[in-house]
Amino acid sequence: MKHWSMKESDEIAMLGLDLQGHSANVLSKEVMAELNEIISEISVWGINKKQPELPKGLIIYSKKPGGFILGADVNEFKSIDLKEEAEKLALHGQSVLDALEKLPFPTVAAINGYALGGGLELALACKYRIAADNEKTRLGLPEVLLGIHPGFGGTVRLPRLIGGAAALEMMLTGKIIDARSAKKLGLVDEAVSERHLLSAAIFYVNRRPKTKKLPFGKRFADYPLIRQIAGKIIKRKIGKKANPKYYPAPYSIIDLWVKKAGLREEAKSLGELMVGKTSRNLVNLFLVKESLKRTAKTVDRKIKHVHIVGAGTMGADIAAWIASKGYPVSIDDQSLEILARAAKRAQEFFKKKFKDPYLARQAADKLIIDPQRNWLKKADLIIEAIIENKEAKQALFKEIEKQISKETILATNTSGIPLEAIAGTLTNPSRLVGLHFFNPVAKMDLVEVIRGKETNGEIFKRALAFAASLDKLPLEVKSSPGFLVNRCLTPYLFEALTMLEGGISKEIIDQSAVDFGMPMGPFALMDAVGLDICLNIGDELEDFVGRKTPTVLREMVAKGKLGIKSKKGFYKYDKIGKPKIGRAEPDPMVAVRLIGQIVKEANKCLKEGIVDDFQAINIGMVFGTGFAPFRGGPLSL
Ligand code: NAI
Repeated sequence: MKHWSMKESDEIAMLGLDLQGHSANVLSKEVMAELNEIISEISVWGINKKQPELPKGLIIYSKKPGGFILGADVNEFKSIDLKEEAEKLALHGQSVLDALEKLPFPTVAAINGYALGGGLELALACKYRIAADNEKTRLGLPEVLLGIHPGFGGTVRLPRLIGGAAALEMMLTGKIIDARSAKKLGLVDEAVSERHLLSAAIFYVNRRPKTKKLPFGKRFADYPLIRQIAGKIIKRKIGKKANPKYYPAPYSIIDLWVKKAGLREEAKSLGELMVGKTSRNLVNLFLVKESLKRTAKTVDRKIKHVHIVGAGTMGADIAAWIASKGYPVSIDDQSLEILARAAKRAQEFFKKKFKDPYLARQAADKLIIDPQRNWLKKADLIIEAIIENKEAKQALFKEIEKQISKETILATNTSGIPLEAIAGTLTNPSRLVGLHFFNPVAKMDLVEVIRGKETNGEIFKRALAFAASLDKLPLEVKSSPGFLVNRCLTPYLFEALTMLEGGISKEIIDQSAVDFGMPMGPFALMDAVGLDICLNIGDELEDFVGRKTPTVLREMVAKGKLGIKSKKGFYKYDKIGKPKIGRAEPDPMVAVRLIGQIVKEANKCLKEGIVDDFQAINIGMVFGTGFAPFRGGPLSL
């Protein structure tokens, strides 16, 4: 066997998985074929063919330090063209796991690290599941995020184990949970410390505890009528977020659940979804995203302390995010009041992110409020997040360059001022990179990592690696006004403003963009970003995109209508920042005009070599702006 290895311990078969040539385990075709062989042999011959005798039990574990099994091999999805092929793949996986379930002795999945998708389905086919209670262990069925649903029996086994309602929620949200929550849910039998994982598994083989019956409260979805009614209600609820035309997977999950469908139906439904355009696009984006992260992570980071200058909307949130990832980070602002507000916001963020108060405290301890810039000298990386003004940024960098070591990396979070313009006053401009985070920092995956003409190659790679270490998606972008995302977004926003000036209502324009699949319309977006910032970016990019900033935007800013932050923008906002948006019918032609602008500008960026290839543009727009992911990005339309 290439990937699986078996050893015997006190008549128990210990089956370890170590996918060759990869850092994490996935259930590739080869891995499943080998598992099939092992299961058929062990059920007849036991562990040792020379002395055929059935083992007391079988324990499946991972030999990788980082995780159990990440799921099916998503790379293999690309070569599947026909729904029949996808269905066959699922049927084969199901038959292997069925055979595992039917083994005549107890089977235990000893889970340490990620058990996702097919990995969790394998564990579900075992009689018992024991999980290591540590930071690495996470369990879930996130297939819906790739436009599909579980296909190795997960839709059948999960409701049986944890009850219909909880199973449906897990599959529809793709939510990933830790070992303790999994124990509470009944997804695993025990959550134990990592060093007791195997002994707990052995205990289960020897004692064979009876599996508990689900309490009545979790069995209410057993009644067909209840499932039918619940299915209708849930579909209606989901309909508000996901259009079935664009995101069919959640609806297929509900259909299977309502019918209490069996394995064959699961495989058939999966086959249909897998070859659909939505899943194709989501899988492609997932693979490009993973490869970007992997490449960036290979570099030695050497960054131990980060300092941030500017504690406004972005600086404060960037600092909180960095602290939450375990880096010590200091922050200053010229206004003490703003700095105090930033500290308060960070505490709230930590509390919300880490439900455990100890972890929240740990993150809070990493954040240093540093109005005197005492920590500047100690920083290996300084991120500037002050106002979007070239002269202010130049002056700041000139001033801090005098106080820091030669090794310190300088980064700017500018939305679009070319690096060359900012680096002008630096003695060593080669140490300046762009680290362009998106708003809201905690939600947006993308960071554009900007390479100026003079940026040192090694420093650039370290900046990419740093962004990846923050669990962000680092995208390499050549310095040029607006970089990639804001450059492509600007003509889209200009077009919306021009249409408004031409008499089309902002509600129709926004609704048309949302109907196309954008997370919000252009006017809601401008209000969220801040109309002053949009105006700055617009003015900076006028020449590049070849059209003037529409007057209406300038007028709004002049009137002090800056969007959500001033409670008034294109829309009016209530106290909690909720906009009052009137209803409107979407107009497909409006969407064509809007999206056409993004596509045109994206093609120009590609020609100018702002990024390496069209996939980078798709990734940038999907993860930087929320561009309809199911469409695959502006250059996959
Ligand atoms: P902001 O106006 O909320 O914050 C800027 C902060 O910098 C203020 O608190 C101000 O007191 C402080 N500041 C100004 N000069 C300073 C100096 N010399 N030393 C210390 N502090 C100083 O601005 P925001 O929105 O946070 O933007 C910051 C940067 O991030 C800008 O370059 C902006 O273009 C960029 N950006 C903004 C995004 C957004 O959605 N707001 C998104 C991505 C980037």
